[in-house]
This record gives sequence, C-alpha cells and structure tokens, in this order.
Amino acid sequence: MSNDLLTVAYIAASILFILSLGGLSNPETAKRGNLYGVAGMVVALGATAISTQVTGYGVLFVSMVPAIWIGGLIATRAAMTALPQLVGLLNGFGGLAAVLVGYASYLNPDASLAGIDLTIHKVEVFVGVFIGAVTFIGSLIACGKLQGWVSSKAVLLPARHLVNIALLGTVIGLGYTYMTLQDTAGLLPLGIMTAIASLLGVTLVLAIGGADMPVVISILNSYSGWGAAAAGFMLNNDLLIITGALVGSSGLILSYIMCQAMNRSFANVLLGGFGNTNYQGSATVEGEATATSVEETVELLNAASSVIIVPGYGMAVAQAQHAVAEITKTLRDRGTQVRFGIHPVAGRLPGHMNVLLAEANVPYDIVLEMDEINDDFAATDVVLVIGANDTVNPSALEDPHSPMAGMPVLEVWHSQTVVVLKRSLSAGYAGVANPLFYKDNTQMLYGDARTNVSAVLSQLTSTQAGVPALASAGR
Ligand code: TAP
Repeated sequence: MSNDLLTVAYIAASILFILSLGGLSNPETAKRGNLYGVAGMVVALGATAISTQVTGYGVLFVSMVPAIWIGGLIATRAAMTALPQLVGLLNGFGGLAAVLVGYASYLNPDASLAGIDLTIHKVEVFVGVFIGAVTFIGSLIACGKLQGWVSSKAVLLPARHLVNIALLGTVIGLGYTYMTLQDTAGLLPLGIMTAIASLLGVTLVLAIGGADMPVVISILNSYSGWGAAAAGFMLNNDLLIITGALVGSSGLILSYIMCQAMNRSFANVLLGGFGNTNYQGSATVEGEATATSVEETVELLNAASSVIIVPGYGMAVAQAQHAVAEITKTLRDRGTQVRFGIHPVAGRLPGHMNVLLAEANVPYDIVLEMDEINDDFAATDVVLVIGANDTVNPSALEDPHSPMAGMPVLEVWHSQTVVVLKRSLSAGYAGVANPLFYKDNTQMLYGDARTNVSAVLSQLTSTQAGVPALASAGR
C-alpha cells in the first residue's frame, strides 16, 4: 500500500474513532458507536499490516492470531460484574505495549535520526516507557483491588508523599544520565527508571481506597492513551498519536466527571490520593429497620400512580434487570408512571446500569440521570431501590463527618415510601452504614434481588385483572 493510501486509511480510522466516541456518549447511539470503533480498528490494523513499513508477516501472524483468540475469549466469558477489572487489565496492556515499543525503538532506532531529532526521540522513549510502566503496574494493582486479590482499603505507606517525590526526583536524575549517554549505553538508567516507575504505579494506586477506584481506573485508562500517543511519536505514527490523544483526553474528561459525581478533588485523585482521607468505613446507625414482604410490595405498587426504580450494583449481581423490565412494562401498561433514576457511579463502572437496562429493553426515555430526577422524588408514591446502597445513602448529605460527605446521591427518602431490595442491612462498596434503611418511610424487602423481583412480577401480573387502570396521558 502506498504512503498516500496509508494516510487516507489513517484519516478514515481517526474519523471512525471520533464518531465512535460521539456514539458512545449516549445509550441510544452506543451500539453504533461501538461498531464505528470496531470498523476504525479494522481499518487501522489492516492498513498498517499491508503498508510498506511492515515486512515480518510471520511474526505478525504468530502474535496476532492468538491475541485475537484470547481477547475474544476473555471478552465473551467475562461476567458483567467483572468488567471494571477487565477494563483495568486492558489499560495495563496498553501501558505494557508503550514500554515494549519504547525499548524496541531505543535498541533499534531509525538510522536516519540525528541531532535534535535523535534527542527528541530519546525523550519520547523515556517519557513513553515511564508512563507505560506506571500504567501497567498501576492497572495490575487496581485490577487486583477490584477482584479482591489486593485489599480495597487505602494502604498508606509511611511518608508516602516524600517517598513518591524522592522516586520522581530519581527518575528525573536518571533521565539526565540517560540523555547524556550515546547509542544504547542508556539502557541501564532506562531499566532502573522502568523499575522505579513500576514502584510508583504500586505506591500511587495502593494509596487509593475502594470508593475511589472507578476514578483510578478511568485515570489509568487516560494514562494508557498518553502512553500510546508517546509510542506514536516514537514510531512516527500519526494514527497512534491521534488515537492515544483521544483515549487520553476522553479518559481525563470521564475522570473529571466521575470526580464531580463522587465529590472528589480531581487533582487529589490524579496525584494518587494526595490528601485523600482513609476510607475505612463509618459507624453503625441507631434504630430498627422495618421488614416488608413481596405481598406488601405488590400492594404498594398496585396503589401507586408514580414509581421510580433506583438500580445499583446488587441488580447487576443478581441479574435482575429482565424481571425489572417486565415489572416496568406491566405497570406502564396499566397507566402507572415508571421511571429509573441512575446515579453516575451506580454499579462498578460508568454506564453499568444503563447497559443492563438497555439489554433488558427498557425504553431509554424513562431512564433518567440523577440530576434529572432528584427533584421528583417528593412527588413519587413508591421508590424501589434494587441492590443500590452508597448511591442512596443520606449520610452523604446529612452527616458532615461521613466519609461520603458531600457526594451527591439520589434523594429517594423524600418519596412517600421506599422499598429497598437487598439481602441484609450491610454497608455498600464504600463501607459506610446507610441510615436510609432505618427511616420511617423505608421498608426492607430482604433477599436476592432477582428472586424477589421475580416474585413481585408474578404476583403483580396475577393481581392485574383486579387492578383498576389508571391510564392517563403521559404515563
Ligand atoms: P453498592 O453501594 O456497592 O451496594 C450494592 C448493594 O447490593 C450491596 O449493599 C448489597 O447488599 C446488594 N446486593 C449485592 N448482591 C445482591 C443480590 N444478589 N441481591 C440483592 N442485593 C444485592 O452499590 P451502588 O449503590 O450501585 O453504589 C456503587 C458503589 O460502587 C459506589 O460506592 C461507587 O463509588 C462504587 N464504584 C462505582 C464504580 C462506577 S464507575 N460506577 C466503579 C467501582 C466502584 P447486601 O449484601 O445486603 O445484599
């Protein structure tokens, strides 16, 4: 393939990636966005493979075929609840690729590089390997935390800020030595820097508590993009630079949005928990929770004219979304207004709930963001909280000493009656006790969400004949 054609293919792939990001920003267009992304990647891979720069087809085949097979296998087998870990791991591979490209292009530089070009190339290698190593090891630790292999609590090493600053200072010193050495003599400082960057990946991510992990995954995703962009500079590959910048900047924007949703300082999380309070969970709540039954819940739903469903991680674990969608349909068919309230960090990854509800064919227009629905709870008869906990915790607003203080939450307790479907009174992911369960207008429907939602559905449909239709416009 000629260089001109290659450029055209790269531009086409870049446009497809931009369209993909645009599509992924809305549930209604997300599938199309995904397809754009796949098409862009096929164009990018295909064009690169048949370009004049590539000659080692044997190596390419031997590396790509098992990679495609393993990637396909992992993606199809991973449970919905394990997707954050998978995303974390894949970010890490991006970082590892930047490290390997860095070493390869250092050991085998473009012979035509000289003077300032060679200097710039060496800087690109050093920076790319640094970002890549922090991303790779940081992602492995993040993945281990989400999988439960590493404690999800913030591990605060003594004088960690000083240690991190000292490590960074050493990296800068090594960078100076590396730049002064000719040919491949800088391999030793490069190697030592890689080890230090890996250590930084460990100390930065270990210091972050479980509740901040979503932002960390997103930031590491962004780092992997910058690592790819650095690799693009090393290889003089425009597409890699564009793609890396897209991933890097979209990851940063997503991290910022998530920080706002969780009331975290972006700078603090970005710097690896600088000034982060230790999320060790808070005190228990005084009082007694009121248990309810499937029958009472069905009675409440039969009498309600407006219902809001607030799903959380427990709905994903229980895979209750299909029964929830059926309940929604049944209630809507008889004229009850049913809507969903989605917290930006409900579940374990951005958009987790939206994906599950879309999979169960819940109409997009009744799935509302927290900001869109928070004012409507006061005028709502029944709120069903299905496997959500932190995202509906009033202590975030009512208790300034709560570790969640200031985090915006879905204010479900303003509704007439709240029914919480979960197995116990235990705390959510952030480890903070939830006073919602003890409020006068809250009823606890204990048990597995899918079992209970299915039981509610079957009683709801069997009592349907006796329920007067409330059919009214707009419901
Ligand atoms: P959580 O606060 O984690 O609460 C989920 C609740 O579901 C648990 O308290 C659990 O209570 C219940 N549950 C689990 N399995 C269940 C089952 N089979 N049936 C019924 N209930 C079940 O969830 P949330 O409200 O969605 O909040 C999300 C939390 O995760 C936030 O702290 C957020 O920061 C964090 N996080 C979010 C993300 C993103 S980006 N969304 C990523 C990582 C972490 P029982 O054990 O009593 O049943």
